Amino acid sequence: MNQIANKQTPVHAAAGIIADLRRIPKQLSPALFYDQRGSQLFDQICELPEYYVTRVETAILQRHAAAIAQAIGAQALLVELGSGSSIKTRLLLDALPSLAAYVPMDISRAHLLESAQALAADYPQLDVMPLCADFLQAFTLPQPQRAANRVVFFFPGSTIGNLDTVQAKKLLTRLRSMAGNNGGLVIGVDLVKHPDVLRAAYNDAAGVTAEFNRNMLVHLNREFSAAFDVASFRHAAVWDSPQGRIEMRLISDREQVVTVAGESIKFAANEYIVTERCHKYTLPGFRALAQACGWVTNAVWTDDADQFSVHYLRAA
Ligand code: AVJ
Repeated sequence: MNQIANKQTPVHAAAGIIADLRRIPKQLSPALFYDQRGSQLFDQICELPEYYVTRVETAILQRHAAAIAQAIGAQALLVELGSGSSIKTRLLLDALPSLAAYVPMDISRAHLLESAQALAADYPQLDVMPLCADFLQAFTLPQPQRAANRVVFFFPGSTIGNLDTVQAKKLLTRLRSMAGNNGGLVIGVDLVKHPDVLRAAYNDAAGVTAEFNRNMLVHLNREFSAAFDVASFRHAAVWDSPQGRIEMRLISDREQVVTVAGESIKFAANEYIVTERCHKYTLPGFRALAQACGWVTNAVWTDDADQFSVHYLRAA
């Protein structure tokens, strides 16, 4: 396996965090979930009975692995955005005849290293080139030793849903230009469904999502000399029907002042921080978004209940 490549600039900056906490409503980037503990908690979320997302997407990938692999073709450079534990990737790797290289990209360095090493051990023929970076910022693709026929991005999990329309367009447009005229994008997109199902998926009975949400404050306390009293914030997941998104919040139980990187942040009682928005799409809605960004929908695979979708997009 190759060493982890990364940019020298830190993935998160204190100034951005302070600015987000001074907005109304207060906000924090969902990227801040993923310290090592957060990545572990996310893996636990994926196993929860209420969190259909991973289960349904995995079933789609399993069922259509051969067709997806055929669309990707031979000798591609496969670049995964937010690779986490690279569990779903294995389904594609098992179906793909050959890759120029696989580039797992993640912001959680320790987690990335562990996953990339495990993958390299299980796929000895595969060139694994991990990249520690935030895909929302500009990044450079590594040069594989074997020449690549095309660049294909793999963006599963409906992480695209974390972005609002403007951000999503920016990212999809940038990926299109990085992939070039011969490039592709395999992307998992969660679909609009009954609010009860959505709310339960982000507010599980075992409280894992609540812990995942609060862990963001633990992360800030450790890495950004913040002093959040974590126990004084409670988790909520609200379905915003007009916007078509779940909003994850951390609500302050009381009025308080919290020091973050030397700055004082005031909370009123019941004031909340938005930690994540998870947009849900319709199939035509996502197709139009992709088209506006220079992609054309080559194929769409869904489960029988149309809960989730996997799209293969080609450069238009
Ligand atoms: C990783 C962004 C796809 O939005 O469903 C899961 C993250 N947050 N439970 C999602 C998440 C709470 C997840 N994504």
